[in-house]
This record gives sequence, structure tokens and C-alpha cells, in this order.
Amino acid sequence: MTEEEAKEDFLKRIENYRMQYEPLDLEYDEDKSYIKVINAGKSFYVHNVNGHVQSRVVYFLMNIHLLPRSIYLSRHGESEYNRIGRLGGDSPLSENGLKYAGKLLEYFANEKLDDFRIWSSQKIRAAQTASHLKDLAEHTEFWKCLDEIDAGICEGLTYEDFESRYPKQFAERDKDKYHYRYPSGESYEDLVARLEPVIMELERQSNVLVVSHQAVLRCILAYFTNQNRDDLPYLKVPLHTVIKLTPKAYSCEVEMFKFDIDAVNTYREKPK
Ligand code: F6P
Repeated sequence: MTEEEAKEDFLKRIENYRMQYEPLDLEYDEDKSYIKVINAGKSFYVHNVNGHVQSRVVYFLMNIHLLPRSIYLSRHGESEYNRIGRLGGDSPLSENGLKYAGKLLEYFANEKLDDFRIWSSQKIRAAQTASHLKDLAEHTEFWKCLDEIDAGICEGLTYEDFESRYPKQFAERDKDKYHYRYPSGESYEDLVARLEPVIMELERQSNVLVVSHQAVLRCILAYFTNQNRDDLPYLKVPLHTVIKLTPKAYSCEVEMFKFDIDAVNTYREKPK
């Protein structure tokens, strides 16, 4: 499509909207709550906004943009704890994990991204992975709120240890994984709340790579792909895989790039 054709098509679209919708009237709609977004976010007209939810909506609309960009999600490379099936902790990368960090550098060097930013969790395994790429990025930032779900009293246990030491807790998590909160730790619901500032900031940014963890990346992926609470804690975010999210008009394109470097599988199926 030429530039002229695109412009004509766009103006026709506005004409069609004009036939379908009624404009808000300053006097007649005086009592209604609304926000007008003018010229794709150049200016805003906010009217009669009350309460928490409405002001969150205004905040959200003021932070989104329509410029083309991609958000990349990657777990850290395989860690020493991953290899022995332990939850959480702060162990370094395994040999395979280090290889993955090296390959990630090649991958992003080929992507040739403008204004590329890296946000990493503060856990050693994530920071080690992200630091391999630091020369490619404008900024590398380490966010505490990108750290993995806090498994509380189960930190450092395997799923088998968890089941044998705390069978009731284990069964409760299986029953409702989204709401289950580890004693002295977090739930997926807590994680979603912890990640709100990250998600809002992702909406404002251009090309960003988030280097984080299985549970955290599930929450971010669920937000961009519109997943429900039951499915969110079971989304597949394997090790040694880059997930590329490209926001489009009404959805988000998801591409997965699996690297050919061995890694353990940390996925636990939803019990039947
Ligand atoms: O096993 C890797 C890991 O990142 C753990 O540190 C974390 O507790 C777990 O995955 C989260 O996944 P799930 O919620 O499926 O147990």
C-alpha cells in the first residue's frame, strides 16, 4: 500500500466511525466519566474521573503507545538448582546455562534493535545471563520485583520434598495454584500485584528484553496474551527459549525461539 492509499484508507475508517458512533457532548454528557485520547496520546481530556479503578484506567491509557516494538522474555540460563530440581534459591548458572547466555548474545546481536534495554531480576542466575548482553544494550537494569516467586518455607526444596514434608499444602497448591500462597512466601496473585509497575513501564518502552524466571514470566506473558487465572500458572515458559512479543492492533504476536542447548525441564503438569 502506498503512503497516499494508507492515508485515504485511514480517513475512510474515521468516516465509518463517524457513522457508527456519537461524539460525547460537553454539556449533555456533563455527568458522565470519560477520557478523550487525542492524536494517539498527544493530549488527553479527562472528565469526571472518580475512584481507584477509573484513575488506574486513565494512568494506563496515558502510558500505552502505538509505536512498533517487541518485548522479549527469557528465563535465565539453566541454573545449578534447576539441574537438581530445587525451587527458588540463588544458585549460579550451570555449564549449559552459561552456553545459553553466550547464544543469547549472538541472537540479540542479529536482531539489531534500536534503543534496546535489558531488565533483569536481581538473582545471580538472571544477572549472570543478562550481563553477557550488556554491551548490546543502552541500559541494563536489575529489578528486585523481577525476582522469582518466593516459595517461603519451600525455598530450596524439590517438588518431591514439598509433597512429602507438607502434603496438605502441596494438595492445596494443586487445587488452586493461582491463589495458593506459600507459607512465608507468595502466591501467583501476589506476583501479579508485584509486577504491575513492570508491566506499566513495559507499556511505555520500546524494545526490551526481560530476563527473569518461570513464574514471573508466566504473569507477564499472560498479561500480553490475555490468559485467565486458571491457565496462567501453567503457561509453558521453558528454559533456553526466547519469547518475542510484538503488540499488534488488537492482539499480540507471540514467537518462540528455542535454542539448541540442553536444559532440564522444570515444568510440572496440572494434575488431572
Ligand atoms: O523450578 C524453577 C522455578 O523457577 C522455581 O524457582 C519456582 O519456584 C518455580 O519454577 C515456579 O514454577 P511453579 O509455580 O510451576 O512451581
